[in-house]
Amino acid sequence: MYILINFIFIILLQSVWSLNIQCEILKKLSDHINSFQVLQEQPYKPAFKWHEKQGLYRSDIRVNFFGSPAARKLRNGELTSVFDNDMFSTAWIITTILESNLYGKGAPLLDQKRLQLALEAIGSFRDKNDKNYLKSLIRSFWPQIYNSTFDIWQQQPDNIRNVALSVEYVPWDRIIKLLSDLKLEQYIKYVEELRKREVEILDAFSIPPDFDDSYLNLGLGAALFRLKSKYPFAYQSWKQNNTDTQNLIKLTKKYSYRPFSADLNENSIDPRTYFYARGFIQQAYRENKSVSLISTWIQNLDEQRKLKQKCVSMPFNVNNVDVTVAANSIYGITSGAIFNVNDFREYFLKNQELVPIYLNTSFFISWTISNNFTARPDLAQVYYPSTYNFLWYASRTLFLIESELKKFYYFNKIGKYEEYFLDFEKLENILIEAKHFLQDTFETAVTRFLVNSSIQDGRNKTFFRDFIGLNDTNIFGKQESKNDDSLFSTAQAVNILIATWTYQCPKTQSLKWKPNAGNGVKFLVKKSVNWLHRNVLCGKFKPLNSFFSGSVKGFSTLPFWYPGNLVQFLNGTNVDPSKIDERQINDVIYAVKGFINEKEYQNMLAQKHFGFDTPLDFHGYNTKENIFPFWSSAPYTYAVSLLALSQYQNLEK
Ligand SMILES: *[C@@H]1O[C@H](CO)[C@@H](O)[C@H](O)[C@H]1NC(C)=O
Ligand SMILES: *[C@@H]1O[C@H](CO)[C@@H](O)[C@H](O)[C@H]1NC(C)=O
Ligand SMILES: *[C@@H]1O[C@H](CO)[C@@H](O)[C@H](O)[C@H]1NC(C)=O
Ligand SMILES: *[C@@H]1O[C@H](CO)[C@@H](O)[C@H](O)[C@H]1NC(C)=O
Ligand SMILES: *[C@@H]1O[C@H](CO)[C@@H](O)[C@H](O)[C@H]1NC(C)=O
Ligand SMILES: *[C@@H]1O[C@H](CO)[C@@H](O)[C@H](O)[C@H]1NC(C)=O
Ligand SMILES: *[C@@H]1O[C@H](CO)[C@@H](O)[C@H](O)[C@H]1NC(C)=O
Ligand SMILES: *[C@@H]1O[C@H](CO)[C@@H](O)[C@H](O)[C@H]1NC(C)=O
Ligand SMILES: *[C@@H]1O[C@H](CO)[C@@H](O)[C@H](O)[C@H]1NC(C)=O
Repeated sequence: MYILINFIFIILLQSVWSLNIQCEILKKLSDHINSFQVLQEQPYKPAFKWHEKQGLYRSDIRVNFFGSPAARKLRNGELTSVFDNDMFSTAWIITTILESNLYGKGAPLLDQKRLQLALEAIGSFRDKNDKNYLKSLIRSFWPQIYNSTFDIWQQQPDNIRNVALSVEYVPWDRIIKLLSDLKLEQYIKYVEELRKREVEILDAFSIPPDFDDSYLNLGLGAALFRLKSKYPFAYQSWKQNNTDTQNLIKLTKKYSYRPFSADLNENSIDPRTYFYARGFIQQAYRENKSVSLISTWIQNLDEQRKLKQKCVSMPFNVNNVDVTVAANSIYGITSGAIFNVNDFREYFLKNQELVPIYLNTSFFISWTISNNFTARPDLAQVYYPSTYNFLWYASRTLFLIESELKKFYYFNKIGKYEEYFLDFEKLENILIEAKHFLQDTFETAVTRFLVNSSIQDGRNKTFFRDFIGLNDTNIFGKQESKNDDSLFSTAQAVNILIATWTYQCPKTQSLKWKPNAGNGVKFLVKKSVNWLHRNVLCGKFKPLNSFFSGSVKGFSTLPFWYPGNLVQFLNGTNVDPSKIDERQINDVIYAVKGFINEKEYQNMLAQKHFGFDTPLDFHGYNTKENIFPFWSSAPYTYAVSLLALSQYQNLEK
């Protein structure tokens, strides 16, 4: 029987393996990505002609309207998006293209001038509040603007700021009439709110620098190092400007979340983090294990108390742990250490304090995924709602360690010398431990999730979708999912499966299936590639994604309803929550400090917080009254598709 099933599989595989990805489609994708890069700075003009920063690729702020065809138009439209000058999307697009060069076959090289423009744009997101910023790896999500009143640099999504500052040019009445003509009256109240509070809303975006962008920057440096023979100038210019790896390590330690520490700066966290992460923390407590996890913001409570007024401020005044930030940080550390980017490995090994943070965070990511995100992906990926994107970020570390260990053993055997393998032994056991955490999770939980989520389209094609358009309806009001993020999700599903089940052969550079990769997985990759190849450029599907969002996706995701045991004003005065005036809420720190055991936590769950029950379940991102902004980048969708197709092309069948 087993032989027969295997035989049938082989026949099936052969019948669909005839697909050969022509270099033509890779070239077309590459041209398409290029067409989204800003080659010349464009100034802002009121009301809606956006500032476009030179070197960046297009990234848009959109609102997740859903339901009727008119709502879909508002969500997806050209005119209903705001061009966003963030470094995150551009750094990912560049990184993904570089990975197509490293791991794929047939992907064109990046034009050197374009690459340089992008790197210089990314370089301009350095944290200018740091005296040492010219050498620093720390990055902010948005550009900083100098504020002479406070003598400080403040981050802002500058086009939102532009609109806020020229609010008199916004044709509010026309917008409201349009909504009413489209029978979308339910959204008018949001527009009215915006009209009243536009300037206040700006303060919500004045965030501190973060570990996500900073470690993405380190990972980018590692990719440039590996491709330095192809892009020599790019690597040199990055290397010269990013020398202070020691400080990045120092800051990662300083701001890591340590629930068992006695210091409020280290042991306090967003109540939403504690809600989803508590199983991990409680288990460590039972086993008498220490916990230190990489956090999101490069800021702590004491700094928040001073900097809030100056508008360098964590949303809700407290730090959090987001598994996506964690995954990107882990990748940055892994690649920085393996390739010893600007001596990162030396500092990583010399002062062993980052090692536990690295291992605990890797373990935590695996724990979260294996436990179905404790059924709260909205809290675990608090800023990054796309699950496919998050899983790809986490899978890259597994793939990198697997491939580099194989290469190291192979080079040892043939006695070949490679500069960065000198002293590699000291790193080996740490990498093996991190890989151990991730491998089982990806080979079982993640693979099961992907197999389960794949949707059949005809006999030999499958695709994946996340939430954008999932709850749309047709003109008769009948549910008709639109799959507006299916190109992105399918490409990322292929990238996750390839990262999980293959490694790069040290001898030939081609991708090889691991011996334990089953036919089911191979077949799924093949069918997903078929679908992507067929659809990525045909215009039938939108290139939308949700690579970023605010932490609040509607009422149920506000932190105040979740159990907390620290309620105080920024000035340190403790306060009874029932005594807080609504106007004071911006100055309140509401957090979990230290450890709460499950029995006590269950008691807290049974109580109301700030007058409301704790939202225990997640009901999807498309539920009534939940509209929220998300960030979408078309060239990022094409870049991850380029990676998926070129990697497939390089896979030994
Ligand atoms: C996939 O199936 C379609 C018909 O459903 C067929 O036309 C096409 O050739 C198949 N593709 C491959 C690569 O086998
Ligand atoms: C490096 O720093 C210099 C001086 O601040 C700047 O002009 C240049 O654009 C930077 N290059 C990159 C790639 O960051
Ligand atoms: C500095 O920031 C504060 C708070 O956002 C603002 O009120 C003030 O006008 C800013 N000053 C300047 C010179 O931009
Ligand atoms: C818990 O671990 C610490 C060291 O990390 C040790 O000093 C202590 O004795 C341990 N406690 C128990 C109950 O095992
Ligand atoms: C965190 O890392 C340290 C050092 O490797 C280890 O002793 C501890 O057990 C880890 N904690 C957990 C929860 O795995
Ligand atoms: C996983 O979480 C989702 C919510 O995102 C929930 O609907 C589902 O029941 C959970 N599945 C399992 C197996 O616990
Ligand atoms: C598999 O998918 C079904 C329906 O989409 C869902 O109800 C179930 O929880 C999923 N199981 C796992 C293990 O993800
Ligand atoms: C702390 O701030 C709160 C709210 O702004 C205020 O009511 C209180 O008087 C302040 N306490 C001190 C000691 O300044
Ligand atoms: C679609 O919207 C309805 C009504 O708000 C909601 O009950 C349902 O959970 C939503 N479905 C998804 C998949 O978000």
